[in-house]
Amino acid sequence: MTFHKTTLLPLLLLAGCAVAPMTDVAGPIDGSDWPALRAPAPDAAMEARIARIVAGMTLAQKIGQITQPDVRYITPDEVRQYYIGSVLNGGGAWPGMNKHATVAEWAALSDRFHDAALATDMATPIPLIWGTDAVHGHNNVSGATLFPHNIGLGAAHDPALIERIGRATARQVRATGITWVFAPTLAVGENRRWGRTYESYSSDPQLVAEYGEALVRGLQGRLTGDGDVVATAKHYMGDGGTYNGVDQGETRATRAEMITRHGAGYYTALNAGVQTVMASYSSWNDVQAGRDYGKMHGSREMLTDVLKDRLGFDGFVVSDWNGIEQVPGCTKSHCPQAINAGVDMVMVPEDWRAFIQNTTQDVEAGRIPVSRIDDAVTRILRVKLRSGLFDRAPSDSRFNGRAEAIDAAELAREAVRKSVVLLKNEDKALPLARGAGKVLVVGDSADSLSNQTGGWSLTWQGTENSNADFATGSTLLGALKSQLGAENVVYSPDGSGVDMSAFSKVVVVLGETPYAEYNGDVRFPTPVQHSRLHPRDLAALRAVSGKGVPVVSVLYSGRPAYANDLINLSDAFVAAFLPGTEGAGLADVLLGGRFDFTGRLSFAWPGSACSTGEGAGDVVQFPRGYGLSYARPARTGELPLPATPGTCD
Ligand code: GLC
Repeated sequence: MTFHKTTLLPLLLLAGCAVAPMTDVAGPIDGSDWPALRAPAPDAAMEARIARIVAGMTLAQKIGQITQPDVRYITPDEVRQYYIGSVLNGGGAWPGMNKHATVAEWAALSDRFHDAALATDMATPIPLIWGTDAVHGHNNVSGATLFPHNIGLGAAHDPALIERIGRATARQVRATGITWVFAPTLAVGENRRWGRTYESYSSDPQLVAEYGEALVRGLQGRLTGDGDVVATAKHYMGDGGTYNGVDQGETRATRAEMITRHGAGYYTALNAGVQTVMASYSSWNDVQAGRDYGKMHGSREMLTDVLKDRLGFDGFVVSDWNGIEQVPGCTKSHCPQAINAGVDMVMVPEDWRAFIQNTTQDVEAGRIPVSRIDDAVTRILRVKLRSGLFDRAPSDSRFNGRAEAIDAAELAREAVRKSVVLLKNEDKALPLARGAGKVLVVGDSADSLSNQTGGWSLTWQGTENSNADFATGSTLLGALKSQLGAENVVYSPDGSGVDMSAFSKVVVVLGETPYAEYNGDVRFPTPVQHSRLHPRDLAALRAVSGKGVPVVSVLYSGRPAYANDLINLSDAFVAAFLPGTEGAGLADVLLGGRFDFTGRLSFAWPGSACSTGEGAGDVVQFPRGYGLSYARPARTGELPLPATPGTCD
């Protein structure tokens, strides 16, 4: 991938960034060195204002400003008392720990934190900034429309759609009084074993670069509008390349690969004016060069020399959830190494009191220069001023507290249509036709919003949810009943004992169960084969396959998993990834008519259970870019069934 001035500058002109965009002063990005981007031109008046505020702050106030607790572990009054600069709600944290908290209750909690932060005895009170993981819509909020996860959006190949999703997501988030979103994830996914594969748009760095820029533009807008939020480029850098897909593991990449592959999304996100960067748990080991850069949270070379000096980033770096503890010699509450390396704000969800005490001692003992703390506070204030927090409370937005602002169903339905990929369609199994007889629907996932939305949905893992908890959306079963008539759709979770002669078609919905982060890792040497990992799905498919009724299989998955055995048992096969709350979008394309399939794989699909990447040794069944449609049918035929070993070698 190379970036030329001609590539970046039109993107910048379109960006409409509130922040003067960076410009690429280098030539092509060929891996020979990091691109030399230039920071936005300083706003002299703003910088002078920041300097005055910092000069008037005590050490306690400065260290409070760089501390980010989780809302479960701090009260508004403690925010005031300890001069806290930011809070977050991690997955599964809701106002009053009520999963069904209303938009108004979210906004009210935001008001309490905001008011408390301004009630300090500081010479210049500093407004607090609240961050949240709205990674496929405002996924912590019951009733919010949830979009397809990134792996499906990648299949849409539609940056303009991503920008629209960013705008809608920002409105959802501002409805709850929050002004900072930990997105986009710019991981370039490699190994399907990785539990966060679905948070990656693609294994193609160019698509990740286009999408990263689009989502930053969509989320940040002008940075100061009613529907704008601060965005986060994450996880810096190389999270998607960890060896064997071990989450938070070691990325074994050459310097050229890190520059051209894993860095691709950062150059465009920075040029789009992204204001924060989240450090990655992962480490980087350039094995070929014999150079181990270590954990990103402790890498001065990456966080300061490259990101801030070479790439010109002048926003702030936030650590990941207790990420500092992974730096050798550090704990959850004590890591001068990370702060000296370039972490500006520390996400220390629970142990924030100890962190404040330890870091204060580090500064007083000279282990952290005051200048480094001043620089971190300066960066945080710069982002708060640029995003208008000093001028307008988070509640000063036409979306604040408005329940209708979390509804984006029509846009999400469009995104679902564009994000699903038709891998097989024979014997006219698809489209389903209205008035053409009854349809049997089979599979645990057919009526499960949990399996349909995946991780990062209401809870961190996406588990412990019922359909009712989502308070919106439709499962595929519900959508088919709605579009075909409930009397024409019969549901059997396992397909057993059904008189098949009563049906014209069968839809089998296969699916992973929800997971997030390392809980989704399929650790080596376990084969990555859906039917091995989810045998109930294979049993349900076998119960209805080969009975003289066309079988349409739909797979909900956070990764391309080997499925030739399932595909051979099906007459049509749709890779639906994790479509979110709007199952109606999936029904739209299954019924055809107005809507055809347009999705194209953004990751190659494996042809054996131990092929977990796209490298030389991997067997690819369907290449990146593959996807059929009603307009462009093709015969798939019987796929090879290579023997799956008990364990991969
Ligand atoms: C998690 C994730 C990160 C998320 C953060 C806050 O561990 O790694 O993506 O933004 O914690 O929830």
